Amino acid sequence: MSSAADISTAVEGLTLQSTSETSKFPNCYPTLNPVDIYREHIAEKLGEAAGIDPIKIYDRLQWTNQLEKGDLTLPVPSLGIKKKPQELAQELVEKFPESDLVEPPTFVGIHMQFFFKTKDLTKTVIERILKDKDAFGTNGNQGLRDPTDPSKGKKKIIVEFSSPNIAKPFHAGHLRSTIIGGFLANLYTVFGWDVIKMNYLGDWGKQYGLLADGYKYFGDEQKLLADPINHLFDVYVKINKIVAEQDGPIKELKEQIKAKKEKNEDCSALQTELDKLVDASEDEKARRYFKSMEDGNEDALALWRRFRDLSIKKYRETYARLNIDFDVYSGESQIKNESMTAAYQTMEKAGVSEQSDGAVIVDFTKHGAKKLGKAIIVRKDGTPLYLTRDIGAITEREEAYHFDKMIYVVAAQQDLHLAQLFKITELMGYKDLAKKCEHINFGMVRGMSTRKGTVKFLDDILHDVADKMHEVMKKNTEKYEQVQDPVKTSDILGITSVMVQDMTGKRINGYDFNLDAMTSFEGDTGPYLQYAHARLCSIVRKSGLDVNDLGSANLDLLTEKHAIDLARTLAQWPDVLLNTTRTLEPTTILTYLFRMTHSLSSSYDVLKVVGSEPEVKLARMALYESARQVLHNGMRVLGLSPVQRM
Ligand code: ARG
Repeated sequence: MSSAADISTAVEGLTLQSTSETSKFPNCYPTLNPVDIYREHIAEKLGEAAGIDPIKIYDRLQWTNQLEKGDLTLPVPSLGIKKKPQELAQELVEKFPESDLVEPPTFVGIHMQFFFKTKDLTKTVIERILKDKDAFGTNGNQGLRDPTDPSKGKKKIIVEFSSPNIAKPFHAGHLRSTIIGGFLANLYTVFGWDVIKMNYLGDWGKQYGLLADGYKYFGDEQKLLADPINHLFDVYVKINKIVAEQDGPIKELKEQIKAKKEKNEDCSALQTELDKLVDASEDEKARRYFKSMEDGNEDALALWRRFRDLSIKKYRETYARLNIDFDVYSGESQIKNESMTAAYQTMEKAGVSEQSDGAVIVDFTKHGAKKLGKAIIVRKDGTPLYLTRDIGAITEREEAYHFDKMIYVVAAQQDLHLAQLFKITELMGYKDLAKKCEHINFGMVRGMSTRKGTVKFLDDILHDVADKMHEVMKKNTEKYEQVQDPVKTSDILGITSVMVQDMTGKRINGYDFNLDAMTSFEGDTGPYLQYAHARLCSIVRKSGLDVNDLGSANLDLLTEKHAIDLARTLAQWPDVLLNTTRTLEPTTILTYLFRMTHSLSSSYDVLKVVGSEPEVKLARMALYESARQVLHNGMRVLGLSPVQRM
């Protein structure tokens, strides 16, 4: 058994640690997670004293959200021993031997409660945090295919997220997908998975024929280069207006023809007129243009490719502000016709699809999935749909990446779409593939717009929130003058505001986009979290101590309840992080961070640094620096950039 984390590596600014130490308990890594030392200890001691298999106990020990309930609890019915729970708990409590690490246990109801002996805990936890730094809480062993044999490699996960549509607004659904997806990618990274971040762009369809067409009238090279996303949207809106204008007379003619037909009157003149109108319409031109794209016409494709490339270039910059860097820019356009054709054939062979009015459909009600209704796979005119491309994509990704898991981060509005996709995958006979896929959904954001009420592109939103934060910062002139790069800082604070607001509730709950509430320092907001971090940085600065000297601190001097409770809370971080891989909810981390920062802010008056005896000062500084480290690590996994000053 080696004594410490052997491997510590950095992946995209996130650090993670692994160990070669093994334990007889599954998922037990005492050198990475201090609480595992206590789990191991309690399981062994209790097992021995009561004649229960320690492995069984180990697994059932739970961490708590409230310190007054203990550091670990054991719900005794979970042991599966045929005895009245109260009696059993009483008996186990009595049998538990004296221990160096934990206080004599107690029981409340059916729960045994274990409180760690604080002197040792404080030491172990703080020393560990100061040593592991950015890697504290991470555990690369979790991502191994075989936890006992690293040579078998890491598990691979594709996180597909953000996925906006070129030349269309980046709406709130894309914003949430970006925030949640970025967080999930970080989470799997710090647990040692091989993570592929994939953006599946909406970049194919007749609308791109229309866009190319519109560009001929309204396009401006300079604007395109300077701001492709806004300019393309502009062009798209303008050309759509023309389509709508042309649509009026066409509809009218169609109705006149219909009326004549009903009366059995001759309508050939009208029909000729209609054909002319349709033929000259932008809509028809767009259809033809897109057809030539589909047929692989290089000229047609070149323009589209330019739009796509320039948009991606711009997106990259915006994503960078959110600490996100995609590994793959895929998209609907990238799905090969062969993959879709192969899928049709498989579906047909498996008896999944059927002909209906010239189209190919899947009737889920015939395949034991009533709720999924029916879905069109191939249109009458032979063209594929959004769903069809996703079917092609899922098989292509399986081929290309051989992943262990794939997550689609998409709004709950598309629940049906993804349920249909996974069901079809299963029905085609790819059961294992379907099982590896998961839809991570989320509710709607209401009222997302900029203050000017203008177009809603991610960039505009972020600028707007940054401006607001800049105003807020300027109000404190003294502090403002000390911030090195206020514009950059206000940008980070703005982004933090948006992200924290988004990650506050459970994913499935929607929320109102509220600029004032999210940028406030009151309540559990982004600025509050950043402030907590900046304040800890300022304590370090003002102490005049070097954080590298904190190792020599005498931690026995941390005797106050505030200090001990803070250390106990910090000890929970690795468990909280691990628990997040089960909930896949950013709020799991956020709730913890707020609980920790509240505990911090009530400590400042009691545990002063400046003005204390040198020894005490050093010990308290070690505690605060540990808190700063954990806050920093939590913020980083969420995708936030902790600031030093604000
Ligand atoms: N571009 C789509 C939209 O804006 C989201 C794509 C979601 N991912 C997928 N594989 N269907 O609605």
